[in-house]
Amino acid sequence: MTEIHTPRLLLRRWDEDDLIAMADINADPAVMQWTGDGSVRDLEQTADDIERWEEEWDEEGFGLFAVELLGSGELAGFTGLTLPTSLPELMPTTGICWRLGRQFWGQGYASEAAHASLEFALQDRGLDRVVGVARVGDTASANVLRKLGMAPERTMTHPEYGHDLAVHSIDLTEYEG
Ligand SMILES: CC(C)(COP(=O)(O)OP(=O)(O)OC[C@H]1O[C@@H](n2cnc3c(N)ncnc32)[C@H](O)[C@@H]1OP(=O)(O)O)[C@@H](O)C(=O)NCCC(=O)NCCS
Repeated sequence: MTEIHTPRLLLRRWDEDDLIAMADINADPAVMQWTGDGSVRDLEQTADDIERWEEEWDEEGFGLFAVELLGSGELAGFTGLTLPTSLPELMPTTGICWRLGRQFWGQGYASEAAHASLEFALQDRGLDRVVGVARVGDTASANVLRKLGMAPERTMTHPEYGHDLAVHSIDLTEYEG
């Protein structure tokens, strides 16, 4: 069972009790504004997402962690590693990404979970490089990428939606946490 404790969070695999809370997060247009084409996702789509995320864990040995608040046990969203297969020109590579419910923003949770995910990538999975891709204009994600020490590499155009993406990367052999 892959679980990571940070000072305030538990990062863990998904279970069926997460569906309603994750669907609520996915139903918020402000949360989804910078993801894909900006569409919200309903309960059925969220169930499919969680199934896919769990499959990625089984197949790759890494994936998106369910991020739970220690103490309250609330699901705050996800942070973790994923294969950015929708961006073929970046493949093969491993990406880091995040999505938290709006009430969990502005408290440092995304950065705390992302740091732990990079440590997991390096120490547990032996990965030496991780990319982070954010839509140009997504300042909250750009801020997290900067705090992680991920260096801007280049911009590219999303092959499906046509918007600009900023590609960042980090050499984990030099990662200091
Ligand atoms: C992107 C996203 C995860 C960023 O979340 P966030 O809460 O802004 O990010 P952080 O965890 O870094 O926290 C930010 C702020 O919390 C504040 N904060 C409050 N308490 C804190 C604490 N104990 N420790 C650290 N920071 C704290 C800090 O001021 C920090 O801002 P700063 O870096 O300017 O000082 C969030 O906006 C989100 O889920 N957005 C929707 C999904 C999305 O867009 N995903 C990316 C596209 S796929």
